[in-house]
Amino acid sequence: MCGIVGYVGERRAAPLLLDGLRRLEYRGYDSAGLAMVTPLSPDGPGKGYGLDVIRRVGFVAELVKAVPEDLPGCTGVGHTRWATHGGVTEINAHPHVDAVERIAVIHNGIIENFASLRAHLEEEGVEFRSETDSEVLAHLIRKFYAGDPVEAVRSALAVVTGTWGIAVVFADHPEMIVASRNGSPLVVGKGDGETFLASDPHALASYTRSIVYLEDREIVKITREGWEISRLDGRKVSHAIEELGLELGSSEKGTFPHFMLKEIHEQPESLSRCLLGRVVPETGGAKLGGFDLSPREIVGIRRLGILGCGTSFHAGLVGALAMEQLARLPAFAEIASEFRYRNPVISSDDLFFAISQSGETADTIGAVQEAQTKGGRVMGVVNVVGSTIARTCARGVYVHSGPEIAVASTKAFTSQVAALLVASLMFGRSRMLGPAEGRAFGEDLLGVPERMRGWLETYGMAHTGPIVDAVELLIKARFVFFLGRGVSAAVAMEGALKLKEVAYIPCMSYPAAEMKHGPIALIDKQTPVVAIVPDDVMRDKTLSNVQEVRARGARVILIHTEGDHEAARLAEVAIPVPRASALITPLLSVLPLQLFAYRAGLALGRDIDRPRNLAKSVTVE
Ligand code: G6P
Repeated sequence: MCGIVGYVGERRAAPLLLDGLRRLEYRGYDSAGLAMVTPLSPDGPGKGYGLDVIRRVGFVAELVKAVPEDLPGCTGVGHTRWATHGGVTEINAHPHVDAVERIAVIHNGIIENFASLRAHLEEEGVEFRSETDSEVLAHLIRKFYAGDPVEAVRSALAVVTGTWGIAVVFADHPEMIVASRNGSPLVVGKGDGETFLASDPHALASYTRSIVYLEDREIVKITREGWEISRLDGRKVSHAIEELGLELGSSEKGTFPHFMLKEIHEQPESLSRCLLGRVVPETGGAKLGGFDLSPREIVGIRRLGILGCGTSFHAGLVGALAMEQLARLPAFAEIASEFRYRNPVISSDDLFFAISQSGETADTIGAVQEAQTKGGRVMGVVNVVGSTIARTCARGVYVHSGPEIAVASTKAFTSQVAALLVASLMFGRSRMLGPAEGRAFGEDLLGVPERMRGWLETYGMAHTGPIVDAVELLIKARFVFFLGRGVSAAVAMEGALKLKEVAYIPCMSYPAAEMKHGPIALIDKQTPVVAIVPDDVMRDKTLSNVQEVRARGARVILIHTEGDHEAARLAEVAIPVPRASALITPLLSVLPLQLFAYRAGLALGRDIDRPRNLAKSVTVE
């Protein structure tokens, strides 16, 4: 979602800002802009400074075309906007400026009381140009500005409610950016005689590795020499500089045409990284050091809630089932945005996992805060190192997928599922699971990356075969059903989500038996039904449901266990996946569904890595 970059230094800022914005493109946005502090006269700064603001609808490439190559200025801020308040127009794009165009603001987040602030400012004679909530910030800062930029921003934010990551430049202070965070991440980075700002460390990776994450309700004055951080209430704070992890630098497409395809093919490797050193065959157990829980503490847990959004929620559904099966621990997964506002009953022996690829999803952060407020313990299951959720949950584990750039999540899903299976094994061994069962499960899990690799070699790039046949059916469909039971119901949800996100094909997923309570009315002779039917205890039941939809003319695409010819015979297109124990099957059965979405999206000419209206990291609720 919206991205922020900033630069103060000795180099020309515009190319650096544009490069930073390009690196944030993967987060999803619909317009882009920058504000530069530039000398008023071409002869130099003798006549003072002004602001150059350039904005464009569409991709950063449009902005690049609009920015003159020789645009001067060594201080500036850049923004990618994902529309919330007001349509996708140039006027609504950031930066926004005050009436006299001497202050420019970029903003991520939502100003909740913007309507009353706007009305108030309008009464005072301010004319608004845009429909955005963010514009009020520019006018408020102007109102409070009496020569000190930090104090003006601090005073403006004192009357604002909502979430923000903001960066502000002042024509009167040509070597300064003032930034603040509340719920929307910001990171500052130190260079040699230059300082960087970004909403995501990805944007800084090629310039500096020495960074500091701002905390909520902090404000920072950024100059060439470095930064001064204080709380919005005025208290001074200092944070130790952290080193940016190396893996953040490797977010390149390589030889793949799209990040999504690259990330699908990276899964054997990312999964191995997630499992590395965590499954312990000698004891039949597992170790997740980040949880730092003694067996006694594990036995004392009464209930587990797994909170997340989108794909992460689907991984959580698998995790909850695994936790019940392996650890006999009552467990549920819940969509974070629902949990946070339903005033949930929480007790001190409840444990929660906050599951998130980005670690920045606003609703998941809100759910963490709600669980913590009510005395629950929350641990993170997160991909992005140092992200807000990772830091808000004192304990937790990283899933180690590496950078995931495509908006549609693939490798993060399989690593999340794997991390939750490892957690279930660890908890299981302290509760119900014997060493032999634990060892068998652990060894099965450790064998998955190799089985994935073999499957991807056969099907991942094939120009003919069942994936191609299935995609032929899917792209012609008005809508598609996905069916499964148990963990495969979660996989069905994930498959439907992928096809919606990437190919824009209407889809529905249902626990297989529930179909006949309504949705089966939608099936006609054109409807593809993707059924996920591994050879587990539910196989026969799910096959009966497949028969029911077949009898109504559905065109069945069946994901089945290798060698299960009887199941395969029921399908128009049958796709085998390697055998695994029931709880592990999602790691394999999701692969064809990821490829369906990718290939259908490609066939339909979709923007695979940046589907319309979506954002990689959803930082507003
Ligand atoms: C967005 C992304 C999804 C992701 C969801 C949750 O909607 O487009 O791919 O599953 O957010 O994100 P998180 O970073 O918390 O896993």
